[in-house]
Amino acid sequence: PRPILLTRHGESMDNVRGRIGGDTELSEAGGVYSKKLANFVEKRLKSERAASIWTSTLQRTILTASPIGGFPKIQWRALDEIYAGVCDGMTYEEIKKNMPEEYQARKKDKLRYRYPRGESYLDVIQRLEPVIIELERQRAPVVVISHQAVLRALYAYFADRPLKEIPHIEVPLHTIIEIQMGVTGVQEKRYKLMD
Ligand code: F6P
Repeated sequence: PRPILLTRHGESMDNVRGRIGGDTELSEAGGVYSKKLANFVEKRLKSERAASIWTSTLQRTILTASPIGGFPKIQWRALDEIYAGVCDGMTYEEIKKNMPEEYQARKKDKLRYRYPRGESYLDVIQRLEPVIIELERQRAPVVVISHQAVLRALYAYFADRPLKEIPHIEVPLHTIIEIQMGVTGVQEKRYKLMD
């Protein structure tokens, strides 16, 4: 069995401000997480010479990976966060107030709802296909540092969760989800590195 480690980036400045999307840097807590993650990964994958670190192309994941030494890092656009189109950079409150129909439509069908000029969960699931194929093909451990919506979809694939649950799966910040693919099926462990 080989582990796949899934984690969101460390807390970003947009997370602190409650803004969705964007491409901001890490907060102080996010920076602390990046160091704790590096420690964890370097210990956990010590003798795994072929392991690799996959990030999105957004700086909050690249910064989160940066303290990790000893493994190659690969950036995937397909691992970028769900794109909120015209709502990118807004808070949920702002969307509710300024675009109430959009807010309600998303609430009603979060899986299928597509942000104007942006993406839906179904779009994200579709663009993840090449990532999943490559993850399946890898024999060595992979650390995936990505974003909430994307990790919900990836996690659901490995944990065999139904499509309709995907937008509601809990993927908290500063937590590693370790998935072990073995002969007896999939095993899962969660490591919360910060309070
Ligand atoms: O708030 C962090 C974030 O990653 C946003 O960038 C993104 O729009 C959102 O989470 C996705 O979560 P939800 O689908 O619940 O809005």
